[in-house]
Amino acid sequence: MQNSRKHNKKSIRSFVKRSGRLTKSQKNALQDYSSNYILDTNNSSTDLKSCFDSKQHGVVIEIGFGDGVVLIESAIKNPDKNFIGIEVYDSGLGQCLNEIDKHKIENIRLIYGDAVEVFEQFITKQSVEKINILFPDPWPKKRHHKRRLINKRFLALLSKSLINKGIVNVSTDWEDYAQQIELTFKESNQFKEIKSELRDFKTKFEKRGIKLGHKIFNYSYQLT
Ligand SMILES: C[S@@+](CC[C@H](N)C(=O)[O-])C[C@H]1O[C@@H](n2cnc3c(N)ncnc32)[C@H](O)[C@@H]1O
Repeated sequence: MQNSRKHNKKSIRSFVKRSGRLTKSQKNALQDYSSNYILDTNNSSTDLKSCFDSKQHGVVIEIGFGDGVVLIESAIKNPDKNFIGIEVYDSGLGQCLNEIDKHKIENIRLIYGDAVEVFEQFITKQSVEKINILFPDPWPKKRHHKRRLINKRFLALLSKSLINKGIVNVSTDWEDYAQQIELTFKESNQFKEIKSELRDFKTKFEKRGIKLGHKIFNYSYQLT
């Protein structure tokens, strides 16, 4: 699997690497299918559309897809779009690769890496129609808030990658993260809030939040 991207040791990451819990089938999937579906992000001049068979279709990116259930279902339901999922969680990548192969899905590619670096170094300007960030790690302790993915710098990266009137969908079940998300988008002055897009499928972390009695906050923002 490719993940040889340069990384500044001092940068604060939005994740802690989980490892060592791969099932046999996830391990096999990573070995057998990575070359077909995982993009080599070391080639920084790649036109995203050229990564797919149907090159004319718009690109939708899901950041932190976890087990990939929503990514898979979205790709099956929307054959007229090309989907890219970004994750750092090996088991999730393995699970997702197995599903891609099982359903012979043509319109998904995966990236193994930190979304911040991927947007900084790989995603080309004005190339993405939509970005979905579903239940990003909440980092609930105050001293960890600096690890939260959604911040001013990351929104600036996302805005560069979006096409005109491109959309970012964000969901969280953490109220104070929801407030931070609202404020960060508002202060960026590059997005306007629009009616939240409906999702057909609940993610694993959404279900977990609902079980815990958390309110779900769904936001959609459009590039102005
Ligand atoms: C709370 S989980 C949510 C997973 C899934 N979206 C869901 O709702 O079930 C957050 C996911 O984001 C991934 N993640 C966190 N920071 C990331 C980053 N900088 N780049 C890529 N993935 C990241 C984590 O590995 C984790 O799988």
